[in-house]
Amino acid sequence: MDYKIALIPGDGIGPEIVREARKVLDKVCEKYHHTFSYSEVLLGGASIDVHGVPLTEEAVETAKASDAVLMGSIGGDAATSPWYKLEPSKRPEAGLLAIRKALNLFANLRPAYLYNELRDACPLRDEIIGDGFDMIIVRELTGGLYFGERKTYEEDGVRTAVDTLTYNEKEIRRIAVKAFEIARKRGNKVTSVDKANVLDSSRLWRSVVEEVAKDYPDVTLEHMLVDNCAMQLVRDPKQFDVILTENMFGDILSDEASMVTGSIGMLSSASLNETKFGLYEPSHGSAPDIAGQDKANPIATILSAAMMLRYSLDLDKEADAVEAAVQKVLTQGYRTGDIMSDGCKLVGTKEMGDLIAQTV
Ligand code: IPM
Ligand code: MG
Repeated sequence: MDYKIALIPGDGIGPEIVREARKVLDKVCEKYHHTFSYSEVLLGGASIDVHGVPLTEEAVETAKASDAVLMGSIGGDAATSPWYKLEPSKRPEAGLLAIRKALNLFANLRPAYLYNELRDACPLRDEIIGDGFDMIIVRELTGGLYFGERKTYEEDGVRTAVDTLTYNEKEIRRIAVKAFEIARKRGNKVTSVDKANVLDSSRLWRSVVEEVAKDYPDVTLEHMLVDNCAMQLVRDPKQFDVILTENMFGDILSDEASMVTGSIGMLSSASLNETKFGLYEPSHGSAPDIAGQDKANPIATILSAAMMLRYSLDLDKEADAVEAAVQKVLTQGYRTGDIMSDGCKLVGTKEMGDLIAQTV
């Protein structure tokens, strides 16, 4: 089959890790007789450098005309990069939020799975790890604090800043439905995370999630306060199957969950709309401190490409092959610096990509 893929290398380590993911996809094409045609799209700092803005209308149109979008990472070092001298709405991150909104990517899926091979890289004690864990964070991505009205002003010489957190029941319902549907294909449990002891938006969240749960009597629902969830993720991560939560909480908890799996360099993500279309990106950032040094772990991006094959292109067999190749290369003992442990073989970004591509 022929597919159109929009590629967003982005900033920092983005271009390097996307290059490796593309290598793996090229191998998939060769082996399974598909053709992927790629269009490169500028986003974030890369777009600011060329167009003066972090996202152009043309970039959105190219993404919309594709079957799926594969992205690296965006952003730079806020202390030193000239991008951060621009007003906030012109900075790299604003481009990422704008493309999520423009493509209506409300459902962000972030699986956090502990590879047995990476037990040594996991910061938790052996008795907590037990026989491992496997959860997925379903994060609402186009609402909440990220998209509420914000302003900074001065009143009587006192500087004040306001961000607003708004959710309506439709936004909550559609992401809750996604979480329950996903739970049905996994462990049949949803943990909905909120701050209902303080926030009105969380109280509405909780009641809408309970309404949705009535259509899924086979799925167990539990509610958990976000501070408790942050604690439970390191105390007993095995208890989680699907974690359903709003935008900001999901941002924070997904970084935590990824570190529990050994490295943020392993965590893939899919951002989906109501159709099959999605944007796939690693959950980690652009790591400008190691950019261009062949040190970055490309696995999160390669696993994001596997999610793209599965969710947007319906190529399950091919996705399985990529995931199995990652597993096999880890079993063979190859590691990038972030997941390195004694007795393993240290490799760079390119070699890790080559090894996985060869194994597909
Ligand atoms: C993420 C990132 C983004 C977010 C940033 C870069 C705006 O941290 O995808 O988790 O907060 O959503
Ligand atoms: Mg984040």
